Amino acid sequence: MTTPVLEARGLTKRYGRVTAIESGDLELYPGEILAVIGDNGAGKSSLIKALSGALIPDSGEIHLDGQRVQFRNPMEAREAGIETVYQTLAVSPGLDIADNLFLGREHRRRGILGSVFRMLDTGHMRSEAKQHMSDLGIGTLQNIGQAVESLSGGQRQAVAVARSAAFGSKVVILDEPTAALGVKEGNRVLQLIRDVRDRGLPVILISHNMPHVFEVADRIHIQRLGRRATVITPESHSMNEAVAIMTGAAEPPPPVTRSEKSRT
Ligand SMILES: Nc1ncnc2c1ncn2[C@@H]1O[C@H](COP(=O)(O)OP(=O)(O)OP(=O)(O)O)[C@@H](O)[C@H]1O
Ligand SMILES: [Mg+2]
Repeated sequence: MTTPVLEARGLTKRYGRVTAIESGDLELYPGEILAVIGDNGAGKSSLIKALSGALIPDSGEIHLDGQRVQFRNPMEAREAGIETVYQTLAVSPGLDIADNLFLGREHRRRGILGSVFRMLDTGHMRSEAKQHMSDLGIGTLQNIGQAVESLSGGQRQAVAVARSAAFGSKVVILDEPTAALGVKEGNRVLQLIRDVRDRGLPVILISHNMPHVFEVADRIHIQRLGRRATVITPESHSMNEAVAIMTGAAEPPPPVTRSEKSRT
């Protein structure tokens, strides 16, 4: 049996009388894109925040590569290899692309210049940033020194996804990365998500966009009323059936525990 890369068991989070997550479970397996869908308030963001250290659950366990982890903040989750892109966009508009990629983890110059004077190794960061962007097929960005505020929404989103792909060593989590993007830009980001998976990083994708979910997901986790209702696949169910389960109009089928999809 394959061990999930990331697993949540029985997570609970209450805000006063509101239960955001009620014994929440989630499994993310190697090499897959796991979509998380659910109505507003179903607890998707809360679940993801618990996995990325932005929220401390009241109870339950999180396992990374089979080892129990307890993140006290998002930095600890990042250090463990979990990169999260929140919908409230995660880039600093005034900085250029390279600076954004390395925000919070800048390369310092070697020796005393870096260790004492904290001088940045800009040249190194630029060339590495360029490499990351072209790895992800964003070769059209010729000028890595271009300010992010001069980029289109899709290109900005691409920078955020690129950053997560570059630094996430175990898991990439994306909360609504294609919301508010045009058709072309949305497709671009979808392609990036596939590239990230194909490079070996499993992805959790939260989205309200059913066509996007059905296009890229290997499995679809349906969150309802704070818990996982079931897990389906784009092959096992139609979009209408997924929405019916999501809203409670249809009975959830037993969860698909592992992707049966074989990729070549
Ligand atoms: N900081 C908070 N304080 C109080 N209640 C909260 C807080 N965060 C979330 N909740 C409540 O927890 C529940 C789950 O919220 P959550 O944001 O996880 O839902 P969601 O599935 O991400 O919804 P959406 O699709 O609208 O983003 C909601 O009822 C919400 O009002
Ligand atoms: Mg949310």
